[in-house]
Amino acid sequence: MANPETPEPAATEPAAASPEPAASAAPAPAAETVAEASTSAEVPGATAAPIEAAPLEEGEGDGNFNDADSALGEGDNASSTASLTESILEYRTLNGRTYHSERSGSEGKYWGPNDERQNEAMDMNHHFLTLCLGGKLFLAPLKDDMEKVLDIGTGTGLWAIDMADEYPNCEVVGTDLSPIQPSWCPPNVKFEIDDCEQPWTYAPNSFDYIHIRYMVGGIADWHKLFRQAYTALKPGGWIESFEVEADYRSDDDTIPHNSSMYLWQELFTEGGKKLNRPFTILSDDTQRKGIEEAGFVDITVKEIKVPMGSWPADSRLKEIGQWAQYTLEQDLEGFVMFMWNTVLGRSLEEMQVFLAGYRRELRTRSIHAYLPQRVVYARKPETA
Ligand SMILES: C[S@@+](CC[C@H](N)C(=O)[O-])C[C@H]1O[C@@H](n2cnc3c(N)ncnc32)[C@H](O)[C@@H]1O
Repeated sequence: MANPETPEPAATEPAAASPEPAASAAPAPAAETVAEASTSAEVPGATAAPIEAAPLEEGEGDGNFNDADSALGEGDNASSTASLTESILEYRTLNGRTYHSERSGSEGKYWGPNDERQNEAMDMNHHFLTLCLGGKLFLAPLKDDMEKVLDIGTGTGLWAIDMADEYPNCEVVGTDLSPIQPSWCPPNVKFEIDDCEQPWTYAPNSFDYIHIRYMVGGIADWHKLFRQAYTALKPGGWIESFEVEADYRSDDDTIPHNSSMYLWQELFTEGGKKLNRPFTILSDDTQRKGIEEAGFVDITVKEIKVPMGSWPADSRLKEIGQWAQYTLEQDLEGFVMFMWNTVLGRSLEEMQVFLAGYRRELRTRSIHAYLPQRVVYARKPETA
């Protein structure tokens, strides 16, 4: 899928909106797409049988992420390469959904469930994001003879697996808080449970490329993340960060101001502040600033406007928009519930009303919504 010689982003295309029978006469917007010791342990059984979760009883891991007396003590989290085999399977159950074990890191604050429904959405998201890059897995000008690649927050691991297929002579390491990676994978892929917010244990100068995608809302200190990536990369190695802003926009003001889409940004911005894990990565210019401060050079920034739903007239953009819609609709509740209820304390009944509106809006072709996304890639100097 990936082309190793792809410094060019996929095309930027204007998209005329399909005329919706009852659509507003507003002109269609232009939618562009190109389209300190870490808790690290190999995932038990990641290359064997799938892992059964052992959820806690409701309330046992009650999502009290502000609890200073959390069972996850400072010392626990900071201990390097502890044996996490048992405790990483102690998933927390909140409102019927499972979330990563507090023992695997991130203070139990990561907002996304790790159950089947969300994992399927993650798989679909991988397809959607690959389409956004014109079928490519990355934009950095990588060389063919890479030896070692790291995928931080690999999720269900599809990017790592595709990358390993593409580069059979390269070892691809995927890390995550949850052991949700498939057992079927190429022999050159390895999955590990690792909290990337903790100090990394990788040997300095050991990776050719580090890929970090869709970690929005999962990282308290992005600058530290990029500094650690810098250390772990070989001189001349590349970093790539692909993020989204939780902020629906339209160029023709077709998102009603009382809509769920409009309120989406407030929900995630507020929740992110409370968690101390921002969702405002693009508006804060976090990727470029952090990458620059870490010492990387040759920084390239690509802006991507990704349509939501099937409103674009252009067939490629429509396909991307439809995949975005399928991905969200696969598990709308899972994307929102932790923020809505656990973090902000809003009622589940209100959430259902919000989601019903949101679902309707996603399907309304007269709403020309898009989500801004940004890819930033850069190189560690050869002389570093
Ligand atoms: C939205 S998913 C994206 C998955 C994958 N990067 C992709 O783009 O398809 C974010 C993933 O990051 C993981 N994650 C969040 N915080 C993390 C942390 N501190 N360390 C490692 N993984 C983390 C989550 O468990 C989740 O699987």
